[in-house]
Amino acid sequence: MAGTTTTDAGIPVGSDEHSLTVGPAGPILLQDHYLIEQMAQFNRERIPERQPHAKGSGAFGHFEVTDDVSEFTRAAVFAPGTKTDLLARFSTVAGERGSPDTWRDPRGFAVKFYTSEGVYDMVGNNTPVFFVKDPMKFQHFIRSQKRRADNNLRDHDMQWDFWTLSPESAHQVTWLMGDRGIPRTWRHMNGYTSHTYLWTNAAGERHWVKYHFKTDQGIETFTQDEADQMASADTDYHTRDLFEAIQKGDNPSWTLFVQLMPFDEAANYRFNPFDLTKVWPHSDYPLKRVGKMVLNRNPTDHHTEIEQAAFEPNNLVRGIGPSPDRMLLARLFAYADAHRHRIGVNYKQLPVNASTSAVNSYSKDGAMRYDKVSDPVYAPNTKGGPHADGFADPGWYSEGEIGRSAYVSHSEDDDWGQAGTLVRDVLDDAARGRLVDNIVGHLLNGVSEPILQKAFEYWRNVDKSLGDKVEEGVRAKADELDPKAAEQGNSARSSMQQKA
Ligand code: NDP
Ligand code: HEM
Repeated sequence: MAGTTTTDAGIPVGSDEHSLTVGPAGPILLQDHYLIEQMAQFNRERIPERQPHAKGSGAFGHFEVTDDVSEFTRAAVFAPGTKTDLLARFSTVAGERGSPDTWRDPRGFAVKFYTSEGVYDMVGNNTPVFFVKDPMKFQHFIRSQKRRADNNLRDHDMQWDFWTLSPESAHQVTWLMGDRGIPRTWRHMNGYTSHTYLWTNAAGERHWVKYHFKTDQGIETFTQDEADQMASADTDYHTRDLFEAIQKGDNPSWTLFVQLMPFDEAANYRFNPFDLTKVWPHSDYPLKRVGKMVLNRNPTDHHTEIEQAAFEPNNLVRGIGPSPDRMLLARLFAYADAHRHRIGVNYKQLPVNASTSAVNSYSKDGAMRYDKVSDPVYAPNTKGGPHADGFADPGWYSEGEIGRSAYVSHSEDDDWGQAGTLVRDVLDDAARGRLVDNIVGHLLNGVSEPILQKAFEYWRNVDKSLGDKVEEGVRAKADELDPKAAEQGNSARSSMQQKA
């Protein structure tokens, strides 16, 4: 970009440095519309940050289908040989826009596919499960991870208060406190839909599906110490790493696998397959390869291409539908609502969000509308406007009294089992040791009785020996720091602060 500076109206300006004044010592003039434009635009540069997932970045690339899954879905994006442009954004959940990339937190893993049949958004995380299973608890959960009302500080005491009162969080919290709770980079982590979705093939046959994007770079993680050091050395370490890798042509990729459950098996599966706090064990539903995602183009304007990107789980294309997972169903409302607030009602017209296939909607007008509409502006009509094609959304049969209740239970539904499997069967001794250290360190950072005691019980429910070690670790360290405070049941952090 070179040439003469202009106003936003394209009018050449006389100076980049001096405002219009009455003589060198005189006041500035209201008629200096260029100065006013500079100040006014600056004052309006920030848009509200995302409520959760505020800190993040991303890149463009493509997805290429390598294996034939047309037997399971009619989605054009997964048709054999198809290559589709996409945008991926990675993020932390709880931190604000300037927060360190290396805080212990799940990472968002959101992918926007610009398919030949409309925009398809896969808005997942780097973990296969989540903390809660009913959307009523989501807002409360996020608030417990963010800041207190009084001092505006994050507070581990409220985090553990919420977690220990929500036993369904155990699987995700175990995962979070383990090695994968801090990825080394975004390139070195997997992505999961976490939710179950519904795939439908051309004949209308249905399968339940979960996606696993496995990193081709291999899993790499930071220890708590490494992450703490990085948080001060380079707050934006993950953002920088992705940008610089792509800049030098070291394009990261992920192989997409799916687990598929025949539609009728859901009803009698040993646990509720729509429960977001559970995985489907690989031995029950093995992974099937679909294709590869490659990121190879950096944004050139973070604001227009990443900050204004609007990912929404409701952008589901033909062949891909929702499941009865309550969290997912609530998300189908929440995101578009957030975008209308955060960006504006016509956010889907911004180039990063716009469909690359034809848009024939009846939406019209509204602030900052850019695409022109034409008559007729209503349907049905006899004036040559677009007609819906009669497609029947695939779904499932449901009946029952309206009420507020837990999910229909299956024989092995419990909150602790899969967390315990992770601890006992997946982690080795060294990883279990780091898990204990991470939990102890987290609890020592401001958690007070009686929540501390409840946290020990929580971990004993996951695994007896793990819970015992966590209690031993916390008691020993708290005593070491201030025996008197520990005896009086004060919070471990206050004992650390007294010592200091
Ligand atoms: P498997 O032995 O087949 O799978 C274990 C999986 O655990 C691995 O495939 C890997 O997932 C993941 N894993 C490895 N190390 C860690 C770690 N430090 N933290 C978190 N996950 C790790 O057993 P199952 O399928 O029966 O699952 C057993 C447990 O493994 C589950 O209870 C769950 O906690 C965890 N898990 C299961 C997943 C699933 O979809 N079945 C996915 C991820 C975790 P990956 O291959 O995706 O890298
Ligand atoms: C971002 C709501 C659960 C992944 C957001 C945003 C909202 C939200 C309002 C901000 C959107 C924006 O302003 O652009 C909810 C609700 C949930 C829920 C109501 C449950 C009821 C989940 C789950 C996952 C997830 C289970 C992962 C499986 C993400 C990601 C983003 C996000 C990745 C950031 C997307 C981006 O990069 O722009 N969520 N969320 N959320 N959420 Fe959720």
